Amino acid sequence: MEKISINIIDFDGERYSIKTDVDLNSNLMDILKEEGFSMGHCGGMALCASCHCYVEHNKELPTMSIEEESMLDQLNNLNQTESRLICQIPCTPELDGITIKLVRN
Ligand code: FES
Repeated sequence: MEKISINIIDFDGERYSIKTDVDLNSNLMDILKEEGFSMGHCGGMALCASCHCYVEHNKELPTMSIEEESMLDQLNNLNQTESRLICQIPCTPELDGITIKLVRN
C-alpha cells in the first residue's frame, strides 16, 4: 500500500514525521488520533472543532464545506490561511509532505 509522510508540530513546538498508508476511508484526524492526540469528539462531522489545526501544504487541499467554514468562524484562534478541521481532509496521496500544527482551542 502506498505511504505518505505527515509532519506534525505538537503543542510544545516539537516537530516529527510519521509515515501512514494512503486510505480514502480515513482522514487526518483519524491519523493524529492514532498518534495519541485527543480529538475527534464529534466523530468527524465538523461539529466540535477538536481537530482544528494549522495546515501547511504547497498543493490544493479539499475545498471547505459550509459546515467546516462556519465552525472555524467561531474560533478565537482562526488562522485565515492555515486553519482547517482535519477530519475533513481524507488521506490521499496528494497529502505527502503536509505539515500539521496542533493548536489549543
Ligand atoms: S472531529 Fe469534530 S470537527 Fe473534526
